[in-house]
Amino acid sequence: MPPIAFLECARCHAHVSAGTPQTVCPVCPEPPAGSLFVRYDLEHLRGSSARDVVARDSTGPWAGMWRYRAVLPDAAPVTLGEGWTPMLHSRRYSGVYVKEEGANPTGTFKARGLGMAVTMARHYGLRKLAVPSAGNAAGALAAYAAAAGIEAHIFMPLDVPFANYVEATAYGAKVVLVDGLISDCARMVQERKEQEGWFDISTLKEPFRVEGKKTMGYELVEQLGWEYPDAVFYPTGGGVGLIGMWKAFEEMEQLGWVKPGRRPKMIAVQAAGCAPVVRAYDEGAKTSQMWQNAATFASGLRVPKPYGDAIILDIVRESGGVAMAVSDEEITASINDWARNEGIFLCPEGASVTAAYDRLLGNGFLKASDRVVLFNTGAGLKYTDVTAEAMGLQRPGAKSKTA
Ligand SMILES: Cc1ncc(COP(=O)(O)O)c(C=O)c1O
Ligand SMILES: [Zn+2]
Repeated sequence: MPPIAFLECARCHAHVSAGTPQTVCPVCPEPPAGSLFVRYDLEHLRGSSARDVVARDSTGPWAGMWRYRAVLPDAAPVTLGEGWTPMLHSRRYSGVYVKEEGANPTGTFKARGLGMAVTMARHYGLRKLAVPSAGNAAGALAAYAAAAGIEAHIFMPLDVPFANYVEATAYGAKVVLVDGLISDCARMVQERKEQEGWFDISTLKEPFRVEGKKTMGYELVEQLGWEYPDAVFYPTGGGVGLIGMWKAFEEMEQLGWVKPGRRPKMIAVQAAGCAPVVRAYDEGAKTSQMWQNAATFASGLRVPKPYGDAIILDIVRESGGVAMAVSDEEITASINDWARNEGIFLCPEGASVTAAYDRLLGNGFLKASDRVVLFNTGAGLKYTDVTAEAMGLQRPGAKSKTA
């Protein structure tokens, strides 16, 4: 595992030491301060022989996402078996692969980012972590904090999928349910963290969640035989995964692990009821505006203004991709479609990308022969309450019991 050379600000490019825990850039001339990216000296890993070692040497604590420890911070992993999730080939579309992130501990891809953030928190000796969450980050933080013996303080909307509340409580986290959105939760963490001695591990306000999520980029390229697909579809809330994958592509090209110049189109998918990145993309803006009255049952996409909006927009544009929104009705139809025809129970966020794929195939943006990776970011089973409601499904006899 390489030592961290420095942390680099995404906005002003200042170099900051990783010797002590960092949040956002301490020297940005004006707010909002830039997110910090981890930089290593990777020179000794150049070439395909180093790449082959990664693929060979992946057992014990180095299984899952830790097979990429050569490009991850030097710290003892707090692991529950995250990463190296299945890449499922669609039964109907020859170019389509589904990256099944529902197979992670806590049932979502959030395990990668929070597993890494908690690993580094333990490494730095932090004792109390706090996070505003749309739901699944809360469950993941609670699990990894329990495994590490660290306190977790969680703020999430009152109407998150019930599973998120149950799991966070079961793992022993201190949970506050907020009558509002993740932006209100973030404000509460911000207001109280100093007094309470909490370290804030909000999306893109510390450097290591991106490091965990970048393993999705390494993994999808390795699983496709160290080749890029033509497009990657990502359900975008805070955008950490999209940003992390792009960082992975950059690193892999520096390392000579993949042919440069053919990166995939990055397709950022949002819900029509909360689509700040899509609106900014359509308007040609550099950043997004706060989305009013955000509403969708794809709860992970209910982020009214992502902190990393400028980075997400840059990546989508640079890649030749697109930001697009789909309705809750399209999401529900796609859940049914993939469950019945492929045996895959998508989470609503995952179904937003399958619906988006249908649209981009229909309008000619993509060809059927294009190789694409669609991220199912979580297990459909975490959403049974909200998905049942979207489907108008009730337990037979439920009404008569209460009558
Ligand atoms: C299942 C699921 N998909 C997608 C997202 C959005 O992820 P990101 O914040 O990386 O954009 C979330 C965030 O909560 C989520 O829980
Ligand atoms: Zn800066």
